[in-house]
Amino acid sequence: MTSLPAGIEARFHGLRRLIGNTPLLAIDYTFRGERRRIFAKSENLNMTGSVKDRMALHLLRCAYERGTIQPGALIIEATSGNTGISFAAVGRALGHPVAIFMPDWMSMERVNLLRSFGATIHPVSREDGGFLGSIEKAEELAHETPGSFLPGQFANEDNCEAHETLTGPEIHYQLDSHGLKPDAFVAGVGTGGTVMGVGRYLRSQHPDVTIHPLEPSNSPTLRTGCRVGQHRIQGVSDEFIPPIVDLSELHEIVDVDDGDAILMAQMLATEVGLGVGISSGANFVGAAMLQDKLGSDAVVVTLFPDDNKKYLSTDLMQDEPSKPDYLTPHVELHGFTAFNRVCRICNESEEWLRMMRIPSGEPGPVAS
Ligand SMILES: Cc1ncc(COP(=O)(O)O)c(C=O)c1O
Repeated sequence: MTSLPAGIEARFHGLRRLIGNTPLLAIDYTFRGERRRIFAKSENLNMTGSVKDRMALHLLRCAYERGTIQPGALIIEATSGNTGISFAAVGRALGHPVAIFMPDWMSMERVNLLRSFGATIHPVSREDGGFLGSIEKAEELAHETPGSFLPGQFANEDNCEAHETLTGPEIHYQLDSHGLKPDAFVAGVGTGGTVMGVGRYLRSQHPDVTIHPLEPSNSPTLRTGCRVGQHRIQGVSDEFIPPIVDLSELHEIVDVDDGDAILMAQMLATEVGLGVGISSGANFVGAAMLQDKLGSDAVVVTLFPDDNKKYLSTDLMQDEPSKPDYLTPHVELHGFTAFNRVCRICNESEEWLRMMRIPSGEPGPVAS
């Protein structure tokens, strides 16, 4: 493992305080008249407002430690949005220029956010291959640019490790501090880094926990292996099953209609003030579906991958018609409490410091 240049180490130290260690929300709701509770990590509170900050920070840290990235190198990534925003911001914070290849149909907020961090954007049309075309073009540019760094989030195991070493342990410790154990975890699959990594850690602590990938029922990539339709849950279900996803490690797939996801995201904002994105609505619907199967006392955990600010020009702000099989019309949200961020004082073990990649003696994460 290469030791990091002092200036870069200091920058990582600053970023670690802004990324991860998010509160765990306990959201109380009624489903068909029965009172229930679901747990969701507030990943919208990360530095750029999404869960992808965790992946970008961890992946760059690992690359520095292995010596596969040098200070000032061009970072090149193909992304449907949040990953690009995370690499653009984290990359800039570490002193890197960033080039992003993305399908040209992503929301204007995402494109403008990328521009605001100074990233160079390469839009790729459907005719030019859309998402798969973005990946090919990013690889071509990396090939032509000596010294550049291609994170390759879909195939890079460091993506899963970000969640296995931090998101998963955070969930475990936050539940444990309230005497709870997870029965099930569910998360929409984009790269699959979240569901694979959190799944691995939770299984290591709770062998009976079930781990569920979620995808849009109107475009089920995991079930079919390819893109079979259109959907509006940006960030999940791209055009192929990512190489880091191993379905044999996971339990049954949860299918959520994108309209139901939109209605739930709208309800989370209007009823309880949680301004989250469409995939967060999908995750809540998926968690409620699982809880309905497992029993109203089951501890079902999910996450809110991003906030609603990137969707202000999308159907999230329009009237969404309800359909007979939707779950949201049967849900009444009552409110939430938040379980504290993980407190260093409670977890000052060497193992914890190693997981947080914090050298002993350095100030660790603080309680909220
Ligand atoms: C909004 C949103 N939700 C969910 C996900 C899925 O996360 P993962 O890539 O870890 O599967 C992403 C990934 O980019 C995302 O942007």
